[in-house]
Formats: sequence, C-alpha cells, structure tokens
Amino acid sequence: MTVRPCTCSASLRSTIHHPHCSIDPAQSVPFTRCTHQFATGPPVDLLRQLHLPHHRNLPRPVATPRCEFAPVSHLRDSLSQSATAMTNLASEGDQHPPLDLARITRAWRAFRAYRRLSLQVFDSQALAFEHLPEDAKTLIPDVPIRLSHAAEAIEHNADVIERIAALAGITKPFQLDALDPDDLAQTVADFPDVVDGLIAITRDWSAVSEKDRSLSYDHILRAIEKAADEAVSAGTLESRDTFSVLVPGASLGRLAWEIANRGFVVQGVESSYLQLFMCNYIMNGSATPEAPLHLYPYAHHTGMAPSVNDQCKEVEFPDTNPRQLQNPNFSMVAGEFLELYNKEDAWDCVATCFFVENSHSIVSYVRRIATILKSGGVWINHGSLDFRFDDSETEPSVEVTAEELELVIQRAGMRIIRKEMLICKPPFAVSGMINEEYKSIFTVATRI
Ligand SMILES: C[S@@+](CC[C@H](N)C(=O)[O-])C[C@H]1O[C@@H](n2cnc3c(N)ncnc32)[C@H](O)[C@@H]1O
Repeated sequence: MTVRPCTCSASLRSTIHHPHCSIDPAQSVPFTRCTHQFATGPPVDLLRQLHLPHHRNLPRPVATPRCEFAPVSHLRDSLSQSATAMTNLASEGDQHPPLDLARITRAWRAFRAYRRLSLQVFDSQALAFEHLPEDAKTLIPDVPIRLSHAAEAIEHNADVIERIAALAGITKPFQLDALDPDDLAQTVADFPDVVDGLIAITRDWSAVSEKDRSLSYDHILRAIEKAADEAVSAGTLESRDTFSVLVPGASLGRLAWEIANRGFVVQGVESSYLQLFMCNYIMNGSATPEAPLHLYPYAHHTGMAPSVNDQCKEVEFPDTNPRQLQNPNFSMVAGEFLELYNKEDAWDCVATCFFVENSHSIVSYVRRIATILKSGGVWINHGSLDFRFDDSETEPSVEVTAEELELVIQRAGMRIIRKEMLICKPPFAVSGMINEEYKSIFTVATRI
C-alpha cells in the first residue's frame, strides 16, 4: 500500500462533501487546499516488454502498427501496456512513434486531469448555488447533497481511470498547473473524450447496454457468419476458422471480441489511445463478471438528468470475461486505418460499425476497404451517416447521402447484396433524458 497526496483541488469545495477528505462539508472552507491522502494498491509492473506477436493466419498491417495487443492467450504479456516501451521504440527510429508519443502524452494528460477537471464543474455549480439568495436556496436545499453524491461518483470513476492508466504504464506524476497554455487547452479539449470513454465502457462491456449493443452488433455478427459459411460451401474458403475479419474503429473491442469468440481470425484497429488503454484494461486487467468494477458514467450529466438516481447510476463491468476467449487469432492494433492497411486482396471481410462517418473523406475509406478485400470478400457496414466533422470549421468533411454512398460503393468495385434501414442506438446515446434512437443504414457489399 502506498499513500499519495490527493490530486484534486478543493479550493472551491465549500459546499461539496469531498468523500475521502477530512474537510467537513458543513464548514465553509473556501480557498484552502485539500489535504486528503488516499491509499492505492501496489504499483503495477510497468516495464513489461513490448511484445509483437506473430499471428499465423492474420494478414499483417503494411506499416508498423503503433502497438498491438497480443492474442488473448498471451494477454498478460501484451504490448500497449507501457508508454515506456513506446519511448524505447521512438529512440530506435520506428516510423510512427513521434506521433505516437504525442498521442500517448495527450491520453496520459487527459487521464490524469480527469479528477480535477471533473470536480471543477461541480465546484463551480456549488459556488453558483452558494451565491443564490438564502430564500432561493430553500427552494432547492438538496442541490449540495446531489452535487456531493455526483462528486463522490466522480472520485470513484477517477480511481478506476487511475487503474486503467496504471495498467497502460501511465503513472508519471502530473501537474495540470505546470502545463503551458497550449497543452493545457489541448488537455481541456481532450477531457470530454475520457468522459465518452466511460460511456464506451458501458456500451461495450456492461450488461445494462446489452440490448443497445445487440441492436448495433447482432446484424453484423450474423452477416459475418453467413458470409463465412457461404464461402466454405462455395469452396472459396478452406474452413470457417480461416475467415479473416478486420474491424476498423474497434473502440473498446467488444465487436472484434464477439467476432473472435465465434472462431474467426480478427484484428481490431483503433486510433484513440484513450480507448485503447481502456480496452487494454478490460482485456488484460483482472476485473471479471464475478469481481466487476463499478463506474458512474452519467455522473457528468449535470444537465438533462431526471433525478439524482439517474445521474449517479452505477454500472458494473465487464459483463463477460474477455480472457476466457480461446482464439489465438485475435489482436488489437493501435493506429490509423488508412496508414496501416493498404495491402490488396488481404481480408475476407471488413466489418465497420459507426466508423466510416468518422473520416474526413468517407470516399477514401470506402475505396480502401474495396482495395484490401479479397475478390468475393464482404464489407459489412452499420452506420448513421452522422459525420464526425460536419460542424467543424477547421477540419474538412466530405459528406454523402445514403444514395451517394451506394454509388461510391459500386464505383469502388463492390456490389451491394443487402441494404436495410435499422433502428439503433449510436455509441454515445446515453441514459437520462437523452435516449436517442437513430435510423441507421446496414449494408453488405461484396468485392467484385
Ligand atoms: C463512433 S466510434 C464507434 C466505435 C465502435 N465501432 C462502436 O460501434 O461502438 C468510432 C471509433 O473509430 C475510431 N477511429 C476513428 N478514425 C479512425 C481511424 N482512422 N483509424 C482507426 N480508428 C479510428 C475512433 O477513435 C472511435 O473509437
């Protein structure tokens, strides 16, 4: 057990009960520093060696992946667990690490800033409450208690995030105040991605999201099984377990894991280190359905929360033990889809779920998917055409209608064999008063 100082700033925490602190919530303590110390478990061994496993049946990415999780049978040795290993790679002249290091550093800062940036929101709400006239306060006397509950939930989330960060090798001390203005602005801009990551954990690895998840993933999984069975029946594939599937935008890995759990050869690729580190924790950490971790993913939703119970709803994860998978041909790769995959005729299937909308140019993604598919291979896509950069003033965004997308698919050399409109929940539809449903597009196309 080690004891270290609390990283929070309690300077404004006058009405919020900081759950672990010695500060009495009844006393007003403006502009004092939190003196709380809290205990953590033994430090994780962070210096595990980077391990790039060789997957016998797996088409290799053409460029060096930034890092790669080992197949599940070797998860304990897997890479991506150590930013230190990345630093070593950088000094060995790998072509990607400068960008990697910048991204890892950003992820590290965002993780480490989570506790303080989150609590600041509650601090300022508490301050706003304090400034109300006394007679107005009596109308909503429970607000400080609700904010305290939410702050407690945030503290708990921050402890989980620290465990995720520790398994990723992110243990370096961090001073938000010491960042230069640009880095500080970047960290504040990246902070919502950590919050989204908590929602992504809930979506991919909690029982409460099982229904929403299956609305997105089940059609894809069934289409993959059908395509593999048909390829075997047609004699174009020797056996089902050699059917190779690439999952770009794999996020926390559940879809890729489900495909691997059905016995296929699978590689997930994800560009966000925040998501990869969370995925790493779920795949390589010790939480199981019998000994789950708890999160409060909606604690941040200070607006559009029907009640304190909704805001502080507890979610358990994981709902299944990812380490029980017996498939050596499953891996996760860190990096950009377009950078890593351009080998022609490499994959039997590319499965994408809310991914192609994340590009600056959906056309480039569709063309690349067509290139890397084997002749007769299938692209299975579920998406919303809700383009990520549609309201960006600085990022280009090529946007198409569903009809135009069909034309792109055909002109890229694929034939659409199935198209449907589905109703689904997009990845970041959340509880509370936001409970969006989308009409989504499900398409299966074969490479001619
Ligand atoms: C909207 S999320 C969808 C995640 C997941 N497929 C799902 O349905 O829950 C899109 C994911 O794609 C990742 N991503 C975006 N562009 C990428 C790229 N060029 N290469 C790899 N991953 C990318 C994002 O980081 C994000 O995790």
